[in-house]
Amino acid sequence: MTDRINHCLVPETMGLRGMLLKIESLKKIYQRGDQVVEALRGVSLEIESGQFVSIMGPSGSGKSTLLHLMGGLDRPSSGKVILQDQAIDSFNDDELSLFRRQKLGFIFQFFNLLPTLSALENVALPRLLNGESIKDIRPKAEELLKMMGLEKRMEHKPDQLSGGEMQRVAIARALVGDPIMILADEPTGNLDSKTGEAVLKLLQNLVNEHGKTIVMVTHDSKAASFANRLICLKDGTLDTDEKISHA
Ligand SMILES: Nc1ncnc2c1ncn2[C@@H]1O[C@H](COP(=O)(O)OP(=O)(O)OP(=O)(O)O)[C@@H](O)[C@H]1O
Ligand SMILES: [Mg+2]
Repeated sequence: MTDRINHCLVPETMGLRGMLLKIESLKKIYQRGDQVVEALRGVSLEIESGQFVSIMGPSGSGKSTLLHLMGGLDRPSSGKVILQDQAIDSFNDDELSLFRRQKLGFIFQFFNLLPTLSALENVALPRLLNGESIKDIRPKAEELLKMMGLEKRMEHKPDQLSGGEMQRVAIARALVGDPIMILADEPTGNLDSKTGEAVLKLLQNLVNEHGKTIVMVTHDSKAASFANRLICLKDGTLDTDEKISHA
């Protein structure tokens, strides 16, 4: 089993691209009263920059937990998350939130846009929170919204946008800080299949044409097939880890 996983973790391109994320023996135990849930039971894996990784597995297998730990949204019970050679679990809360804002981009199933802000302001938000001015951010935010095909929707509020448009705003927001990694939890879970496919093609394009690194949790095997690597979790452990060929 270990041999097989190690084998799968070493694609041919290894060495040409840098190691971006290393996860070592990650465990997450949730405790509610006397109820203990072992959401992750010792997961180890490595992700190189430029990979598009899908994570699948049954409901409750620990996918979101793993993604949250990878992105420093939560802390492991034990084990290590090393991103660009930095052990992010050793950061204090302020350092961690700064690291997240500066280095990572997040995309969620329900978009998580702020309803009172325009599309442009939503995209700019992570950098506004870093203290930059809207004047400085605007060119990049506009460029990203154009890239998402939303040049005519920049001043629209989320409730004036369709689901697919909202998710494209969220993708632009995830990109505005030029992140080293994009983490997406069911990014197409709330979209119809055609809109979902358009969003997946955009994500695929970010990897293939712009060298981005994406980790995406999904229930949908068709969505997963847009990636170039598929990791399956089972009961909080890594079940399989395979390369996806698009030949
Ligand atoms: N905050 C929490 N407190 C207690 N238990 C939790 C918490 N978050 C998750 N769990 C439990 O941990 C396990 C893994 O949850 P997780 O959300 O990672 O699963 P998932 O694979 O993302 O599932 P789904 O496909 O349904 O989204 C589940 O049994 C869940 O009930
Ligand atoms: Mg989940």
